Amino acid sequence: MRRTTTNINTTNINTTRLAMRVRFLIALLVFSTAASAQATQTLIINADQGRDTISRHIYGHFAEHLGRGIYDGIWMKKSDGSWQIRDDVVQALRAIKIPNVRWPGGCFADYYHWKDGIGDKARRPTLVNNNWGGVTEDNAVGTHEFLDLTQKLGTEPFVVGNLGSGTVQEMSEWWEYINQPGGSPMAKQRAANGHPEPWNVRFWGVGNESWGCGGNMRPEYYADEFKRYAGFLPGYGRVRPFRIATGPSDDNYNWTEVMMRDAGRMIDGLDLHHYMLTGTWAQKGNATQFGEAEWAELLQKATQFDALIARHSTIMDRYDPQKRVWLVVGEWGTWHQGEPGSNPSFLYQQNSLRDALVAAVSLNTFNQHADRVKMANIAQTVNVLQAMILTQGDKLLMTPTYHVYEMYTVHHDAVMLPMTLDAGRYTFGDRTMPAVSGSASRDASGKIHITLTNLDPNQPRTINASVRGHAVSSVTGRVLTSDRMTTFNSFEAPNAIHPVAFSGAKLTGNALSITLPPKSVVVLELR
Ligand code: AHR
Repeated sequence: MRRTTTNINTTNINTTRLAMRVRFLIALLVFSTAASAQATQTLIINADQGRDTISRHIYGHFAEHLGRGIYDGIWMKKSDGSWQIRDDVVQALRAIKIPNVRWPGGCFADYYHWKDGIGDKARRPTLVNNNWGGVTEDNAVGTHEFLDLTQKLGTEPFVVGNLGSGTVQEMSEWWEYINQPGGSPMAKQRAANGHPEPWNVRFWGVGNESWGCGGNMRPEYYADEFKRYAGFLPGYGRVRPFRIATGPSDDNYNWTEVMMRDAGRMIDGLDLHHYMLTGTWAQKGNATQFGEAEWAELLQKATQFDALIARHSTIMDRYDPQKRVWLVVGEWGTWHQGEPGSNPSFLYQQNSLRDALVAAVSLNTFNQHADRVKMANIAQTVNVLQAMILTQGDKLLMTPTYHVYEMYTVHHDAVMLPMTLDAGRYTFGDRTMPAVSGSASRDASGKIHITLTNLDPNQPRTINASVRGHAVSSVTGRVLTSDRMTTFNSFEAPNAIHPVAFSGAKLTGNALSITLPPKSVVVLELR
């Protein structure tokens, strides 16, 4: 017994010592990690070096005839069976100063015949949407309805013409129908359909993903087709076409090279598409059920957007050193598994704090490339992929991504201020990335705005910031964060995550100390 007791006591003492050692080692590790994270965290904003304007069109959107994006999304069915634009959607989108909307696709664009979508609705032919679930639509939303929407939103339309299965004449006549001031055959038809005035649409996509669903073309072949189609879009009145060519998918640098070489002089915008996901295309990760491994996987991809844009820009610079041609990121965002119970072809997914951080990092990247990236369209506005808004019957909710767009409105058409940011790295397993992403701008009234994102889901980051060439007298801010990585807004709890006042920025003279909470997006206003 005694021996046993003695033995038991010895074991207890050993266990206690071991526990103390482990606790000490953990404390040491936490302290040294925190200390090393604190060591080099600096931000310098060069307020005296602003040159490029951050085009508001970087904050653009995309609405395709896909799933519940258009029908049962932006438009709601009335009791008489007709479709009406939802006022709550319009108000929510106006609040984020939506600068443009790309329509009607996506893959749908090269399938769409615009003449089926004008005139008496009862006589419009139906269409089977073979790309997206084989659903039949009745063409109730066509040219007039879409352009009515953009007028209600106070935004610029970006129309994508059908190059894949349409003709040069069809695309040319659509352009004429929309823009010819009056007297031409198409303008007369427009007037007969109730709209005598032209809409003056300038952003014009000449096909979509012509390397894929838009016709499976080689870049050499598409470059020739692009020139043929784009050549039949004449200027009308004060409107000149801003011709946007299908750009590369992801890292297809050869596509950019050939397009710039063979058609660069006729291209106004080259449309890069890039989606981010966890897992594989065949087996994508879940939108709201994930751990830190998937957090790090997706956010690392967001940080890699910078290199992708830089490389495409370098190629464009060789052919267009004046940077006349816009790099348009015409489709981008996160792509997860569809929500349980939804039609997988409808691409209906939830949207968590993680998606908000992907948006924030990507938008910071576009801002940093303001000299070349002049337009971007997140996919897609309502109920599809990384949406701003989700609807269910009469209900509507704003996603965490929507809130990032609202916070970033301060950058629209502001002057980008170059910055140096060194805030250490966030590492999880074999994935490592800069821990903080940021961008800064000065608006027309002289205020400076800084957006900062802490990608580390566990550690806060304190950054010592200085602003060169600007005497800062006050700082205020807002933050979007949550105690969990997976937080999202649901129809039961539509306000689970939204921006709140931020108290982590302290000003001493011109020196600014900013403590970013873990997994957060912060916007600061400096006066
Ligand atoms: O946004 C969904 C689809 O993704 C678009 O229709 C297509 O252009 C892209 O491949």
